[in-house]
Amino acid sequence: MSPTKVAPHLFVILGALGDLARRKLLPALYHLSARGDLSACRILGVDTDDKLDDNGFRAWAHKLLESTGEATSADISQWCAKYLHYFGTGRSPNYLKLAARIEALEREHRLPGNRVFYLALPSGAVPAVVAGLGKAGLSRGPGWTRLVLEKPFGWDLASAQKLNLEVHRYFDESQIYRTDHFLGKETVQNLLVFRFGNTFFEHLWSREHIESIEITVAESLRVEGRAAYYERAGALRDMVQNHLTQLMTLVAMEVPAAFKSEAIRNEKIKVLEQITPIHPQDVVLGQYTSGRIGGEKVAGYREEPGVSPNSRTATFVALKLEVANWRWKGVPFHLRTGKRLPRRCTQIVIRYHCAPVSIFHPFESSCNIQPNVLVIILQPDEGFELLFQVKAPGQPFRLTTQPLHFRYAEAFGKLLDAYETIILDVLHGDQTLFVCDREVEHAWRLYDELLDKDIPVYPYPAGTWGPAEIDKLGASWLNRSV
Ligand code: BG6
Repeated sequence: MSPTKVAPHLFVILGALGDLARRKLLPALYHLSARGDLSACRILGVDTDDKLDDNGFRAWAHKLLESTGEATSADISQWCAKYLHYFGTGRSPNYLKLAARIEALEREHRLPGNRVFYLALPSGAVPAVVAGLGKAGLSRGPGWTRLVLEKPFGWDLASAQKLNLEVHRYFDESQIYRTDHFLGKETVQNLLVFRFGNTFFEHLWSREHIESIEITVAESLRVEGRAAYYERAGALRDMVQNHLTQLMTLVAMEVPAAFKSEAIRNEKIKVLEQITPIHPQDVVLGQYTSGRIGGEKVAGYREEPGVSPNSRTATFVALKLEVANWRWKGVPFHLRTGKRLPRRCTQIVIRYHCAPVSIFHPFESSCNIQPNVLVIILQPDEGFELLFQVKAPGQPFRLTTQPLHFRYAEAFGKLLDAYETIILDVLHGDQTLFVCDREVEHAWRLYDELLDKDIPVYPYPAGTWGPAEIDKLGASWLNRSV
């Protein structure tokens, strides 16, 4: 979020041939340099393949960037030749050799020794890599050194605490950037502006006015080749403990003292501390069976490649929680996420209380005045809708609900990809959009007991909004396309 120029640096990707580097990091780095944000930088890809050299890595990256169809082959070749380097570690990485390669590149390109280590690796590999970097003296360099870690950060509370200790053995908290890529999304950052830059929303942001809050992260996708990880993780670890909880804290937090990372993190942590323990009966888990999405027949979760035919992994979670403070006591927060739902949709629905009495009684026979609803749409079609009542023209006298809408695309065109924002913030040393050690542990504390409980997993057909059992949570769930 900082406007200053990026300092010259070496960007080291550990796991450079993996899925995250391929789908997100390399395209984001390419876009950032194409826009001129990364001029004095070099990228060092590190992975186990020790047959590959700089040219082999460039050819591999060229192919993948070309497949996005966003730039000409000549531009991509030029970029790869200028920016990309590679270091193959083999099966037993020698971090002293890696350190020597880093120093050689810095000398060759006259870089001042600022370094990013982006760990694009499965979480199980993180402790050994952090220790390897630390023991080789790579946690401190001639300039600044920043370590970027991906979610999941730990597997439960105990493992997250252990991982924090292990990482802190070599890196200070001020060097650590734990990403939750949802926080890099423009519309998620906009939540803070929306709440604290507009007086009329903030004044109506409490139990006096709000009936309930729903947060939905729905995907029509399946596990997309990550079955081995997902089978162990399930939706509670994969989405709820991090992305949905982050969204919830941004909605519920008090106004921070300043737009600074420490102030914002402190307010988010207070929300986490004020959530009452979640009862297993307020949690509904589901797993998709075969069904239809967009008219196409799709397989059930248990038929997906790499998934056990008896799997009990939840691909859907809906739950109700309460933030027991003066602002929110009594307002249910309903969180919901799932794979193979009818469409991709991330939204926050703020449902206001109904008008206390209807003065339209004899005309509006049902006396059915709908509540105002604010829908903050985080993706796709980013923006918001405010649903309000108007008189339907003509006779008989009738009220109808209409939306007042704002769309990012209409106002500003294409938005930055979350990973571009995340990378820029790391390079600027701005930790606002990253999760700190205490926050991660508080978030695990919320769900830790649920992870051990034997909560039933109900089937739901792909292409539906989850198992029928979610009705017991008493949420209204806005599913229509607004
Ligand atoms: C990831 C989860 O963190 O977020 C995936 O591991 C999920 O399972 C993804 O599909 C959703 O992110 P986005 O940005 O595509 O909404």
